[in-house]
Amino acid sequence: MKAVVLESFGGPEVLRVREVPEPQAGPDEVRIRVAATALNRADLMEREGRYPPPGKPPRFQIPGLEVSGVVDQVGERVTAFQIGDRVMALLAGGGYAQAVVSHERLTMPVPDCITLERAAALPEVFLTAFDALHEQGGAHPGWRILVHAGASGVGSAAIQLARQQGMSVMATVGSHLKLEAARAFGADRVVNYRQEKFINAVEEWTGGVGVDVVIDFIGQDYLSDNLKALAPGGTLVVVGTLSGAQASLNLGMVLAKRLRIQGTALRSRPLDLKMALVRRFLREGWGLLASGSVKPVIDRVYPLQHVAEAHAYMASNQNIGKIVITVGELD
Ligand SMILES: NC(=O)c1ccc[n+]([C@@H]2O[C@H](COP(=O)([O-])OP(=O)(O)OC[C@H]3O[C@@H](n4cnc5c(N)ncnc54)[C@H](OP(=O)(O)O)[C@@H]3O)[C@@H](O)[C@H]2O)c1
Repeated sequence: MKAVVLESFGGPEVLRVREVPEPQAGPDEVRIRVAATALNRADLMEREGRYPPPGKPPRFQIPGLEVSGVVDQVGERVTAFQIGDRVMALLAGGGYAQAVVSHERLTMPVPDCITLERAAALPEVFLTAFDALHEQGGAHPGWRILVHAGASGVGSAAIQLARQQGMSVMATVGSHLKLEAARAFGADRVVNYRQEKFINAVEEWTGGVGVDVVIDFIGQDYLSDNLKALAPGGTLVVVGTLSGAQASLNLGMVLAKRLRIQGTALRSRPLDLKMALVRRFLREGWGLLASGSVKPVIDRVYPLQHVAEAHAYMASNQNIGKIVITVGELD
């Protein structure tokens, strides 16, 4: 099969399509004939050699944390899927390929109303956003949520999920186009951080009380204002560290406001915890996709041969929502 294999690390030019053997489904796995995969920020770090796959190094290092496609092989203990099913899967890697194997419990049916092209843009960002809001943030209807990078893949999913689940959302973005997009996803208030300090906007928006949860991808540069933005008892969910991972922390504020700082990483999470998250998402989040209340947002679509261009585009911070890579037969 064709796959993008990392044989060296560096810029987008190291992404090369080559022939590798097809994977075979283990007893609890399905093999998916991949229709499409999608880019995640982590893929850029993996390409640069800064984010190796968890566990034993694979024979072929193939990036790609999510796919959609059709099941073409099932392991002997698999009960949830059959050959021919339209599925999407959360992976620890291997998605930039014509076929991939996935544990049946990390595989989800694609809702009928969603095309395979769109479904590829869904597993990683919707599970990350759902996890950040619920498992890590403990969010409830009526809560106020601050979502940074509101036009990113994960941000676009977090805003939609939070709004559909009865929360109020403020988002930060870096351009006017992204501001309009975050509003369209359902954010009640959007801040262009190049024109306005988000901490001032939070104070005004919450009448000085602060937000209940901050979903942060920025890290270092935002830590101090994130803590100030939280209401007493609030939670900072650390999902990414785009501006850096080292920052000094005002423990006095953490103590006085009884704050929680909660980190989260999906890729390296133990299998049983990942399966539990997928199970909860299927119960509480999947229906919102099936009814069309929330949707994966797609910015651009590239064929697999143009994956290097897709990486360069994501690195330029222009994308609003997801960048999809088509690999095989679509519906
Ligand atoms: N922990 C996990 O399990 C997990 C899972 C998935 C993703 N993530 C993380 O979630 C984040 C979003 O991922 P994604 O794939 O959705 O990303 P994405 O679509 O590429 O969007 C990232 C956006 O973040 C903003 N940004 C970048 N650098 C920034 C900086 N230094 N300061 C402020 N804003 C910056 C930019 O938007 P603006 O123009 O608005 O600034 C950029 O377009 C990444 O950090 C990723 O690693 C974590």
